[in-house]
Amino acid sequence: MSHLILTAVGGDLGETVSLSNDSVPAPTGDDLLIAVEAAPVNHADVLFAAGWFGVYPDVPAALGAEGVGRVIEAGPQADRSLLGRRVLILPTFAHGTWADRVVVPARQVVPVGDSADALQLAMLPVNPATAHALLNDYVTLRPGDWIGLNLANSAVGQYVIALAKRAGVRTLAIVRREKAAAQVRELGADAVVLDGDGLEDRLAKALGDHRLRLFLEGTGSSDQVAAVAGSVETGGSVVAFSSATGQSPALPLPDLIYRGLSLRSFFILNWIATTPRQELEKIYGELAELVEQGVLRVAVEATYPLHQHHEALAHAQRPGRSGKILFTPGQSQAQ
Ligand SMILES: NC(=O)c1ccc[n+]([C@@H]2O[C@H](COP(=O)([O-])OP(=O)(O)OC[C@H]3O[C@@H](n4cnc5c(N)ncnc54)[C@H](OP(=O)(O)O)[C@@H]3O)[C@@H](O)[C@H]2O)c1
Repeated sequence: MSHLILTAVGGDLGETVSLSNDSVPAPTGDDLLIAVEAAPVNHADVLFAAGWFGVYPDVPAALGAEGVGRVIEAGPQADRSLLGRRVLILPTFAHGTWADRVVVPARQVVPVGDSADALQLAMLPVNPATAHALLNDYVTLRPGDWIGLNLANSAVGQYVIALAKRAGVRTLAIVRREKAAAQVRELGADAVVLDGDGLEDRLAKALGDHRLRLFLEGTGSSDQVAAVAGSVETGGSVVAFSSATGQSPALPLPDLIYRGLSLRSFFILNWIATTPRQELEKIYGELAELVEQGVLRVAVEATYPLHQHHEALAHAQRPGRSGKILFTPGQSQAQ
C-alpha cells in the first residue's frame, strides 16, 4: 500500500513528509481494511505535523485524519455486513487516511450511501460535525436568533452558515478579505463584516438592535474577541474552535463578570470520544444526507494523487485559497 508518513516533527512539510510503499496489513480483531477514495488536507494536519496539536505524532507517523472509502476486508471479529460498504473514516490522527489503503477499528467508521460526491463525503467527519456541534451543544438557538462567527469563509464557517440558514438562525459573518466577503454573502450569511480597525463600529451598525446569542471564535485574537464581546447578548456564549494566530483568546473582564458571557471551547476528538455511538451515527447520517442533497457543500480548489504530496501540501498552506485541497488516492492525475 502507498501512504504518506511524517518522518520528523516540525520543519518544512516538503522535507518531513514522504510516500512510503509497504505491504497491505491484514485486519485483525474488529479492524477493517479500507480502500481510500478521498481524504482532505486540513489545517489540523499541518498543526499535527508541527507538534502543535492536541495529539502528538509518534514518528514515523501516518498522516491524514479523515476521509471516505470502501471496506475491502474485515478482521475475524468485525461485522461482515460492512464488507463492500462505503464508510466515513472518523479522525483519530493515528490511522493515516492519506493512503490508498488504511486499517481502522470498526468504531472509527460510519457507513454512508453510495451516491454522494466522494470529495464532499471525505470532508464530512471533521468540519460539518464541528459546525453541527458548535450550533447545537452550547446554547439553545431558535429561528430568528443571531449568531456570529469569524473565519466565516473557512470550511467550518461555510458549514455553520448552511446549517444555521436551514434552522432559520441568522448569521453575522466576519472575514478578512473582500473576496471572502462576497463568497459568504453568496452562501447566505445575513450580515458580512470585514475584520480590522473599526470592527466594533461595523458590528454595531450591522446588528442594529440585535445581539448575538453565540459567537464562534477561530482567530485566537483577544483584540477581536474584545471588539465582538459588546455585540454578544448578556449571558451569551463565545466558543473557541480554532486559533489562526496561535494565541489563546480572552474575554474582557467586564463582559466576563458583569455581563456573564462565557468562553468555552470545542475539540472534535473529545466530541467523538464523548458522544454515544448511536448519536454519532444519527448525526453523521443526517449530515451525509445533507451532503447528498447538496445542502452541505464546500468549494474544492484542487485534488492530488498521493505522489504529488509536495504540491498538495504547499497548495493547502497557500493564503487566499478559495477551496479545500484533497488527496484522491484512487485516481492517477491531479485535477
Ligand atoms: N476545534 C476543532 O475540533 C476543530 C474542528 C475543525 C476545524 N478546526 C479549525 O478550524 C479552522 C478552520 O478550519 P477549516 O478546515 O474550515 O479551514 P479552511 O477552510 O482552510 O480556512 C482557513 C480559514 O482561516 C483563515 N485564516 C488563516 N489564517 C488566519 C489569520 N492569521 N487570521 C485570521 N484568519 C485566518 C482563512 O482566512 P483567509 O481565507 O482570508 O486566508 C480561512 O477563513 C482551522 O484552524 C481548523 O484547525 C477546529
